[in-house]
Amino acid sequence: MKHPFQSYRQLFPVLSSHIHVGSCSQGAVSRPVSAAIEEYHRSLLQHGHNGDLSMARLEEARGHFAKLIGAEPDEIAVLSSASEAIAGVATALPYVPGKEGIVYADTDFPTVGHIWQAQEMFHDHICCIPSIEGEVTIEQYEEHVTEKTALVMVSQVNYTNGFQQDLKSIADIAHRNQALLFVDAYQSAGIVPVDVKAMGVDILVAGARKYMLGIPGVAFLYVSKDRIDRFKPRLTGWLGQEPASRFDIAHPVPAAGARRFETGLPSFISIFAANAALKLLLEIGVTNIQAYMSELLDFSVEYGRRKGLHIRVPYRGGTLPSLLAVEVADVSAVERNLRSQNMIVSARKDVIRVAPHFYNTAEEVRRVIDELAGRC
Ligand SMILES: Cc1ncc(COP(=O)(O)O)c(C=O)c1O
Repeated sequence: MKHPFQSYRQLFPVLSSHIHVGSCSQGAVSRPVSAAIEEYHRSLLQHGHNGDLSMARLEEARGHFAKLIGAEPDEIAVLSSASEAIAGVATALPYVPGKEGIVYADTDFPTVGHIWQAQEMFHDHICCIPSIEGEVTIEQYEEHVTEKTALVMVSQVNYTNGFQQDLKSIADIAHRNQALLFVDAYQSAGIVPVDVKAMGVDILVAGARKYMLGIPGVAFLYVSKDRIDRFKPRLTGWLGQEPASRFDIAHPVPAAGARRFETGLPSFISIFAANAALKLLLEIGVTNIQAYMSELLDFSVEYGRRKGLHIRVPYRGGTLPSLLAVEVADVSAVERNLRSQNMIVSARKDVIRVAPHFYNTAEEVRRVIDELAGRC
């Protein structure tokens, strides 16, 4: 299989010594990201603090993420983690008696359940849809989303098995019931194209450190400008206010757009990194990445099965998963052992996740599969 991104591999130093197929946890860090971290570091060392540069990089990163998902910069808040973003929305969602239902699935990332269960107002109105063999079907959303539902949370890609959800169909179900659709795109942004407007997404969160190739400390929250007015954040701070009221302790005025979800000064070093990573992703193009990834995943599933691996592949209409979830005994030991051979995979629950990105070759995935095949 031809690797269309061969020339980019030299941007990722780790690839010269490791097979890095752990992007579902932490993507490989590129030289441009390293240079951006250095730029922030230098600005501290040489200028004490360069506020203008820091704010410029923050706005660039906001703009890049907006472009990545088809939104406008004013619809994006820059926060520190996906959990902070979800908690910001959960604590700002207006409570309307008779319309207080929250729907998510048992396949969502645990932080989703932790946050919604902590909200006393919504606690008794949560519906956690039980998955069927790692998948939640559209029929299940049809059944569980009702006129009492206020918000539906959906993972675009499942974090344990890579299953890709059909967002447009769920958006239609949510909107038919006057509910909001909140998408967790942490396992998809960077390898799966997202167009929030075309897909009917009202709210979306994605952190920077996985397929978006940044480092921990940044997550982006999109809130549609058509929905923003109904949110009055309670998890807030001075950066969530209109500039004129930021230094007025008595008269806070929430910012007009999604910035109202921002709180205090963010981790600029992570923002510099995210900005450079997003720039690289936009240059390559997520649609180009997805085209290669489906070829690579197709090969990987076929080869893995041929080698006798037990791969969890929830299929719907032939859509391939974004990663290989391989069942092995003692996942932590296998992860450690592969790491000792310079192979980076990611253990989660009872599977080893083999999560390639555009920089991986079929030969690299084949070698990891060969290694795992000896352990099933
Ligand atoms: C799908 C998904 N959602 C949310 C999270 C939590 O992200 P954070 O640690 O930024 O809160 C993760 C982390 O792995 C994730 O994979």
